[in-house]
Amino acid sequence: MLTLMKPEIELYAREKTASHGDLLEKLTTETKETMEWPEMLTGPLEGRFLKLMVTISGAKRVLEVGMFTGYSALSMAEGLPEDGELITLEINDKAIEVANRYFGNSPHGKKITIKKGAGLDSIKELTGTFDLVFIDADKVNYSNYYEAILPKLKTGGIILVDNVLYSGEVLDPQSENAKAIHAFNEKVSNDNRVDKVLLTIRDGVYFIVKK
Ligand SMILES: C[S@@+](CC[C@H](N)C(=O)[O-])C[C@H]1O[C@@H](n2cnc3c(N)ncnc32)[C@H](O)[C@@H]1O
Repeated sequence: MLTLMKPEIELYAREKTASHGDLLEKLTTETKETMEWPEMLTGPLEGRFLKLMVTISGAKRVLEVGMFTGYSALSMAEGLPEDGELITLEINDKAIEVANRYFGNSPHGKKITIKKGAGLDSIKELTGTFDLVFIDADKVNYSNYYEAILPKLKTGGIILVDNVLYSGEVLDPQSENAKAIHAFNEKVSNDNRVDKVLLTIRDGVYFIVKK
């Protein structure tokens, strides 16, 4: 679990947050047992936050960039109305196979469409506008995803971006990923097209609203 919080505070926050239920618990267990980098799962605290963001925003059309085994996609789909739609972009076949099975076992799975391939290519093919977008794929492309998505986001629409504190490395960025995320954060903080709050949930979530 990626978090900058003291472990006991993180645990306390999780205990005081709604349960993610049995299916997401099973998905988490299988991901930890069978996948490389299981810490990429957004997990219960951020997952419940994403679900509530979808619910309270009244979003009906959601886009996710970086699905992995489907934890955040299923969490957000829970917050959608019955006729809501979530399109999720993923490049990894094994992750898609796991996610598809869990989507098939959830009453919310029918709201989800997986688009396989490189995220930037897939975004170019998407038509219509989105109400809420969650960016959680390759960090070096965060700025590219942002620019590609902004024209497809409705006015008042929300972009949530994961890992924007990158385990604290943004304070002194050395790796390629940390540099890319810091540059992205600089870009957003100076962008007059959007309003924004950088939330310190887990590894940092940028909450961006299109003006
Ligand atoms: C941090 S994980 C996503 C975690 C997921 N949101 C969750 O809560 O479980 C990032 C995912 O992005 C995918 N990814 C990496 N580069 C990509 C690309 N260029 N296009 C689409 N997906 C990509 C990876 O395969 C990985 O599954």
